[in-house]
Amino acid sequence: MSLFDHSRATRAHEAFLHHALHGVEQLPSDLASRVIRAWSLTWSNSSFAGFNEIPISPGLDYPLLRHVNDVTRVGLSLRETTARMWDRPADRETLLCILLLHDVDKPMLFERADGALRGTPISTRMPHGVLGALLLAELGFPELVISTVATHATDAPFHGSAQEAFLLHYADMISFDAAALESGGTPFFQRHQPLRGAVSGATSRPPGLPGTARG
Ligand SMILES: [Fe+2]
Ligand SMILES: [Fe+2]
Repeated sequence: MSLFDHSRATRAHEAFLHHALHGVEQLPSDLASRVIRAWSLTWSNSSFAGFNEIPISPGLDYPLLRHVNDVTRVGLSLRETTARMWDRPADRETLLCILLLHDVDKPMLFERADGALRGTPISTRMPHGVLGALLLAELGFPELVISTVATHATDAPFHGSAQEAFLLHYADMISFDAAALESGGTPFFQRHQPLRGAVSGATSRPPGLPGTARG
């Protein structure tokens, strides 16, 4: 049984994504088609008519598409730089798939109701990353792509040890934090700080992001 209605994805969805996703054209055509198919399935099975309407997270006014393209650019750049500095190579094709697909399930985790964003029913039954990983398994992606997407969220029980997973983590964190800063939210960088003014007895701390801000 599939959690995704394959009949909903249209050529119009795929044509938009082909032009919108940075770097997808650098993949071999079979992989590029499957990346676009994955996104078209979660988009067409979501409540969002326009792809640009999907936010990175409830409470942050920053498009998911822009975030994914940010992560892809940063991740590829990190791979180039770190490969010259340390002996920890990452396969470019696998990494590009992971960067492009890490948040593929987000369109199905949020919905707009009465003008506000809230979690969908399936978001209360399936962790972010796991729903996407199930789709990627269905579409025949390599195991490293599936497992890294399944475990990439900041609240996942563990993270993988592959260099591709390591690079995704930092590309995702700096991109998410840039989105939070631009949107007036609190970046991960400044969460869990020591209580400010503790010496004088004050207990205020930076407010956390509302909703499911999990990278
Ligand atoms: Fe994520
Ligand atoms: Fe992300």
